[in-house]
Amino acid sequence: MAEKIEPPKTQKAFLSRKTEDLRQRRLKAMESGSPDREKAQKAQGKLLARERIELLLDDDSFEEVDLLVEKRSREFGLDKKNLPADGVVTGFGRINGRSVCVYSQDFTVMGGSLGLAHAMKICKIMDLAIEAGVPVIGLCDSGGARIQEGVESLGGYAEIFYRNVQASGAVPQISAILGPCAGGAVYSPALTDFVFMIDGTSHMFITGPDVIRNATGESCDFESLGGAQTHSERSGVCHFTAGSEHDCFRQIRELLEYLPQNCHEKPASAMPSDDPHRKSEMLDAIAEMAANKPYKMHDVIWELADGHQFFEVHRAFAKNIVVGFIRLGGETVGVVANNPSVLSGALDINASEKGARFVRFCDAFSIPILTLVDVPGYWPGVEQEWGGIIRRGAKLLYSYCQATVPKVTVVIRKAYGGAYDVMSSKHIRGDLNYAWPCAEIAVMGPQGAVDIIFKSEIKAAADPVKKRAELIADYTAKFASPYQAAQHGYVDEVIQAAETRPKIIRAFHFLRNKKVTGVKKKHGNIPL
Ligand code: HXC
Repeated sequence: MAEKIEPPKTQKAFLSRKTEDLRQRRLKAMESGSPDREKAQKAQGKLLARERIELLLDDDSFEEVDLLVEKRSREFGLDKKNLPADGVVTGFGRINGRSVCVYSQDFTVMGGSLGLAHAMKICKIMDLAIEAGVPVIGLCDSGGARIQEGVESLGGYAEIFYRNVQASGAVPQISAILGPCAGGAVYSPALTDFVFMIDGTSHMFITGPDVIRNATGESCDFESLGGAQTHSERSGVCHFTAGSEHDCFRQIRELLEYLPQNCHEKPASAMPSDDPHRKSEMLDAIAEMAANKPYKMHDVIWELADGHQFFEVHRAFAKNIVVGFIRLGGETVGVVANNPSVLSGALDINASEKGARFVRFCDAFSIPILTLVDVPGYWPGVEQEWGGIIRRGAKLLYSYCQATVPKVTVVIRKAYGGAYDVMSSKHIRGDLNYAWPCAEIAVMGPQGAVDIIFKSEIKAAADPVKKRAELIADYTAKFASPYQAAQHGYVDEVIQAAETRPKIIRAFHFLRNKKVTGVKKKHGNIPL
């Protein structure tokens, strides 16, 4: 038996001193800013930076990077301040068993303000995420650029922005705003794919209430200016709101289950939790309702999805379009659906931008797109025209035309005018396009069409009301159906509504290895 080799006693003492020194250094770097700051953080209902990471990641999976990094600047009294880990915890770990990179700003350390060392820690973890091909999640809680470090902190932000753009479309990027996020600092989250905010504690704005009051005379508070509700309902900056940080981390973990790790992989398949052949009488009932009777698009989506589960994105913003993720036969699918319960499902500026961003995300990350169409056209109005519906509405069109992932479209009811073209029609390369028997695919609705094309006949008729009604009935029979489109092959099949789920599951399965080679160029020029 080999003899156990022991280091000499003096060397052993030396080694244990070194180990103890490391332990002490680690403990010091893992401290919060101060017990008072910790108390203040808790009093606001906010968790500490390390607690957040622990809750977000799988148990015991966190590997910290750069714990021992120290502040760079010594100006304005910073030399006397202890700034553990320079106010940000960075590293990698696992969520649902899959690797992610994460950073978590520590508000107890100088308000989580971003100095150069802090910024470089975030940059390093983003670089690692891009190279390793894993999602990156930022837990943001910061007073912004560290004022004492001047232009170095601005430069640090710019380095982060640059990496956000390099990572865009390469790995999923998620930002959780868990406290203040002010000034130019908001642009890092804005460049990421999904922004989460917490009701009551998250705030995002370029300039705060005081500056606004001085500059424009408008009065507002933090919450009305840049709270979770404002950004989820009005501005659309925020995709998901949560009632608490726990709820936020639960939602992030759920979202990641639908996504691939990077742009070269496909989303992970789940064990199918539902019968792929399941038919739905409820969908037949919707299809058989009178054309002017309302139904809920969410009911259609739930009915189609595996296990009736729909992970909705941007739920509170531009409700006239609905976007989010479902599984079909165990595979992730992105859904884009007009919502006839709001603005009759018409496309306006916000709906176009919301839809466009989602379509581009799905396309970047190999997520097939299901489009459910019930659209009477673009929303009319001077405000929309002056607001740039031409330029901004074109974004959805551009995104669909550019998307090369499998695209399956189902026309549920109305598909009128330009909006018919835009909503993943065959002409802009919908791969398989179905329509229900109640679909109406036409330039416009019967009343509007008849009033324009038969204006003089109606005027000249002995009984204009009767004449108009006859013409509307005639137009409806000819055009307010899916059959003219089917005759031309613009829909591939008119299907019974109840069969939609098995049909689209087969369609996506058939298209799963679809490849498209586009025109060779540097990049397109989306109408921004
Ligand atoms: C240095 C900062 C800081 C900052 C906060 N602190 N923000 N230190 N630089 N930007 C420090 C405070 O001095 C304090 O230190 C501690 O953090 C906690 O701050 P409080 O003000 O006590 O906390 P609270 O009352 O909760 O208010 C939070 C706050 C407020 C609303 C974020 O601190 C604030 O308005 N900060 C400044 C925000 C700002 O204007 N940032 C610059 C944005 S411009 P002590 O020592 O007392 O513990 C920007 C440009 C980015 O970021 C550009 C990128 C291109």
